[in-house]
Amino acid sequence: MRRSVFIKTFGCQMNAVDSARMLSLLSSADYLAAATLEEADLVLLNTCSIREKADQKIYSDLGTLRRWKQRRPGRLVGVGGCLAQQDGETIRKRAPHVDIVFGTHNISNLPEMVRRAECRLPTLALGMEEGIAHWGVVPHLPAGAVSSMVAIMQGCDNFCAYCVVPLVRGGEVSRPAGDVVTEVRALAGRGVMEVILLGQNVNSYGKKNGEIPFPELLRRISGIGGISRIRFITSHPRDLDDRTIRLFEEIGTLCPHVHLPLQSGSDRILAAMGRGYTRGEYIAKIEALRRARPGMAFSSDFIVGFPGETEDDFRETLAVMGEVRFDSSFSFRFSSRPGTRAAEMKEKVDPQEAATRLRRLQELQAAHTRERLSAQVGREVTVLVEGKSARDPGMRCGRTACNKTMNFTPGSAEGPIRSVLVTGAGTHSLVGEERPSHA
Ligand code: SAH
Ligand code: SF4
Ligand code: F3S
Repeated sequence: MRRSVFIKTFGCQMNAVDSARMLSLLSSADYLAAATLEEADLVLLNTCSIREKADQKIYSDLGTLRRWKQRRPGRLVGVGGCLAQQDGETIRKRAPHVDIVFGTHNISNLPEMVRRAECRLPTLALGMEEGIAHWGVVPHLPAGAVSSMVAIMQGCDNFCAYCVVPLVRGGEVSRPAGDVVTEVRALAGRGVMEVILLGQNVNSYGKKNGEIPFPELLRRISGIGGISRIRFITSHPRDLDDRTIRLFEEIGTLCPHVHLPLQSGSDRILAAMGRGYTRGEYIAKIEALRRARPGMAFSSDFIVGFPGETEDDFRETLAVMGEVRFDSSFSFRFSSRPGTRAAEMKEKVDPQEAATRLRRLQELQAAHTRERLSAQVGREVTVLVEGKSARDPGMRCGRTACNKTMNFTPGSAEGPIRSVLVTGAGTHSLVGEERPSHA
């Protein structure tokens, strides 16, 4: 009998790709995607443990799922991803109604685990040794998708002092370049025009596994017909090299937007975080990228209130923001994660003070975002259309090459790539009107 699965994904794009793999695996085991939770026979939470808040949200969801399970006999609950890897058995202690707990390296066994759960045999699968067995699983691609993420690596060896990722995702492993190219070709064959290459530190691609280096991989992908936009996340400022920077001059399909997480503008804090670069080195890379591609957009991640961060350190972060003028950023209050070096650091910043710093940083970012968006008004830009606008179904929504969300009034052109005149800027997105086609 056909059953259905609802997957709720937390955390980063790595989890999003893994969820698409889970869906693809389960569809071959007779589980279709359910449109709503209420419809589903099986729920999978693909979890994140990057900050404490993420943990709390998942345990609260598990409380709700206890009642969901009771409403219809035979329903099953599975928990996978980074929190599952980190908390393991504790999950079932806190939520005994969970049938399957599986780690970040155990996705390929999912159909078998579900079969066991159907026979009321609970499963706990957390081994890291199975490594990348699920890499051969082609992620489910929604009908009509024009953009897709492609995982090129897994795990991380950096052990930044605050970060739990190396603990829950394991060591860095690069996927064979041939497999990546094959996947991108297949996506192009299905109408995908934009690929986003994913890794925790894409710039170290290939180094450990004797694969071709990252810039070489980019060059190969740029040769694949039908792919008109190439993006990558995440770049590590220490490892982003000159060869990759120069590719922005050469490869027109490489999008003019780089996400380059700074974390802090203070050299003292960067050293304590173990990031491996200084503020000056970071700014030099931004300048080199701007020289390679004038008008390039930048986004970043910031952590405020890292142990030992003083008001002066924090002001240095604001100063770098003033210098670079990021188009957007994600910013977080430091969260102490079990097993990381920062969790042992004594000089904790007062949570109230950290909250105030976060607000100050976000206010400054909002001003810079507005400034960067306004600078686009009056320009004609190329938009890759992803669908109808959520606000107004008469309008279309897509992204510019600089990764800005754009809602626009369509003209008579067809196809996903449109030329749009920017007529206005909001707090997070642009509005525009399609230019009449010259044909
Ligand atoms: N590999 C990526 C980041 C992955 S985590 C990189 O190196 O940039 C995404 C972001 O979450 C990080 O950039 C950082 O800003 C934030 N983050 C990670 N651990 C955190 C913690 N313990 N507390 C607060 N923010 C954290
Ligand atoms: Fe975490 Fe640092 Fe690895 Fe990014 S590079 S995933 S922040 S340890
Ligand atoms: Fe979260 Fe795991 Fe990603 S901890 S941010 S889902 S790698």
